[in-house]
Amino acid sequence: MNPDLSTRYLGLQLSGPLMASSSPLTGTFEGLAKLQQAGAAAAVMPSLFEEQIVHDELALHQLQELGAHSFAEALDYTPDLGEYNIGPETYLETLQRARKELDIPVIASLNGSSKGGWVRYAQLMADAGASALELNVYFVSTDVDESGQDVERRYIELVEDVRKAVKLPLAVKVGPGFSSPANMCKRLIEAGADGLVLFNRYLRPDVDLEKLEMVPRLVLSDSYEVRIPLQWLGILRGRVKASLAASSGVHTPYDALKLLLVGADVVMVTSALLQHGVEQMEKLLEGVRSWMVEREYESIEQLKGSLSQENCPDPSAYERANYMRTLISYSGGYTPGGVR
Ligand SMILES: Cc1cc2nc3c(=O)[nH]c(=O)nc-3n(C[C@H](O)[C@H](O)[C@H](O)COP(=O)(O)O)c2cc1C
Repeated sequence: MNPDLSTRYLGLQLSGPLMASSSPLTGTFEGLAKLQQAGAAAAVMPSLFEEQIVHDELALHQLQELGAHSFAEALDYTPDLGEYNIGPETYLETLQRARKELDIPVIASLNGSSKGGWVRYAQLMADAGASALELNVYFVSTDVDESGQDVERRYIELVEDVRKAVKLPLAVKVGPGFSSPANMCKRLIEAGADGLVLFNRYLRPDVDLEKLEMVPRLVLSDSYEVRIPLQWLGILRGRVKASLAASSGVHTPYDALKLLLVGADVVMVTSALLQHGVEQMEKLLEGVRSWMVEREYESIEQLKGSLSQENCPDPSAYERANYMRTLISYSGGYTPGGVR
């Protein structure tokens, strides 16, 4: 029997549990169309960055000032700032076209870390046909006087602002580095998030020993990283009322299955697609399907969350108690001649 692979995310009915997370692969209409063809049930477009929006608006402002002072007629062709969308114009056009010509929901993404007028882009994205909005809050606090509470407040206020700006379903994508990730997730939901994407991968700078300088270096994920969203999704499933998406480290069908079993509503993929091509999505989906057939699962709904902390026979597997056990079992594993 063919299992029912459909799932719900942010109130959207999706044909399957795998979608493409935000990356250059989702930045063009052609890219989105290929992903649909390969079985992605939805896709998140690359983020429109706060810096990009603010920069473009500043440029526009200067243009308007110049026009007003230099040529009266310039005002005739200087667009109305209220409706203007310069650099991000193509972004909105891609969204519009995807909405018209594709069947899968396309989610727009905004990336930023501070309050400001740029969040009004959320509404422009909604008008262009985004099925939902993902807010990717990427903030690295380097100020030794900024407390964890200050940082958390920044996140919450930003979510509140975006929530006010738009009625679209709103997902918030964050990194795992909070003192109390579960509490922070709850508060993001209270601030207006309909869903959470766990987690973004923060990029770590590197040192170039030849040039003796700091360099940005993007390293793609591997399967091990799946354990980070796996733990927190399992802890949150059943404890918060919001959609849960997994992001980081999905390279095999087993990675995706594990995340669904602990409680993800949907599983997002980027690195595996960048490494092996968009067609990898089809292989992942086929792997999920055949595992389900083998185990006689009838639907994603049936397996979703069955290993969450709430449902797990050993809830301590998610906690500190398990830490000691794991350490002990590891030294046991080293016993020459066998694994206990
Ligand atoms: C080249 C590249 C570009 C990315 N751009 C964005 C982006 O614009 N916005 C965003 O929220 N995440 C972005 N991401 C993060 C991915 O969406 C994803 O969360 C992360 O790579 C972890 O998933 P993975 O292990 O499947 O790669 C990007 C990742 C890569 C590798």
